[in-house]
Amino acid sequence: MLEDRAQELRERYGISWRITGVASRRLGWIADSSGLDVTGLCGAGAPAREEPGIESNAGGGHRVTHNVRDWLVAAKADVLFEATSLNVQNGQPAVDHIRAALEHGAHAITANKGPIVHAYRELRDLASAHGKRFLFESTVMDGVPIFSLFDQLPAIHLQGFHGILNSTTNVILGEMENGLSFDAALKKAQELGVAETDATHDIDGWDAAVKTAALITVLMDVPVLLEEIAREGIRDLTTEAVRNVRRDGWPYKLVCRAQREGNGVKASVRPEKVLASSPMGKISGTSSYVYFETDIFPGLAITEENPGLYATAYGLLADFVRVCDRVIRAAR
Ligand SMILES: NC(=O)c1ccc[n+]([C@@H]2O[C@H](COP(=O)([O-])OP(=O)(O)OC[C@H]3O[C@@H](n4cnc5c(N)ncnc54)[C@H](OP(=O)(O)O)[C@@H]3O)[C@@H](O)[C@H]2O)c1
Repeated sequence: MLEDRAQELRERYGISWRITGVASRRLGWIADSSGLDVTGLCGAGAPAREEPGIESNAGGGHRVTHNVRDWLVAAKADVLFEATSLNVQNGQPAVDHIRAALEHGAHAITANKGPIVHAYRELRDLASAHGKRFLFESTVMDGVPIFSLFDQLPAIHLQGFHGILNSTTNVILGEMENGLSFDAALKKAQELGVAETDATHDIDGWDAAVKTAALITVLMDVPVLLEEIAREGIRDLTTEAVRNVRRDGWPYKLVCRAQREGNGVKASVRPEKVLASSPMGKISGTSSYVYFETDIFPGLAITEENPGLYATAYGLLADFVRVCDRVIRAAR
């Protein structure tokens, strides 16, 4: 996505970039502050994780480091993109990666919901203390501007929301309506690339609950624990049951709900039968939907129609442009 939009970023936004670090479990921590050939690096067989030593060179002369903090220094990182797998229990190692980036003096952008649910306030305050930005638009509905929409709605009060925020279960339920078994439908969702690495995160409602918690934490300013969200997945639904309710005009959807109650928020994720002709009833495939109830706009709905994987990458890119825009304005 960065390469795809490089010319536009340069000419329209005055942004040029280079990738100075890449890290994953298999690759290890690779950095070169003069810039990496990322395409070559990904294709060329990475150095083994067991080999690295901080001063050694590996895989085409790249400097390999031991940990995130050394890596940020070696890369001279200005911006970190954090996209490790979701850890619903504690948000790690993403929380540590983002904390290290902000303390290093880099902006942090993530697609990972874990840090929002487990460490939002800490990371927000840390970013602010270091004069950096912590952005996470890709965490809910891919790159659709949910969090930045509310940046444009100052002093508005969000009372609640409902919606369909997990694509995998939506794909599975749709395929079961067409007659596939649960397992065959899951396989189809995995082939589309939308399923979480650990598919139980989707099936048991964890991914939807984490997204619900992220929206509550950030937009309603109520830090909610995942355990406080009543959660039921789609594992126990049979193909027969799914087909029957669809035939009756009330298909099952995995619905997320949150509503203010006193100083807190009551929230749930569970399969609900929704009217087929209602907005939620019409959400199919990888589409998502959210309906916000605010004191100014009683109903404000957003539908994302069948996004591909580029939508998530786009959210990260859009956050990157927001970060650079702020830096460029400050420098003027
Ligand atoms: N895919 C989507 O549609 C989508 C949409 C919105 C948000 N997200 C979020 O975006 C993130 C990435 O999604 P994905 O589908 O690309 O996940 P993924 O297939 O699990 O890939 C995660 C990447 O993180 C690396 N990684 C995992 N644990 C690591 C660790 N402890 N240290 C260093 N690297 C580690 C993996 O490296 P190795 O392969 O070397 O192990 C892999 O490169 C997740 O948090 C997901 O929830 C995804």
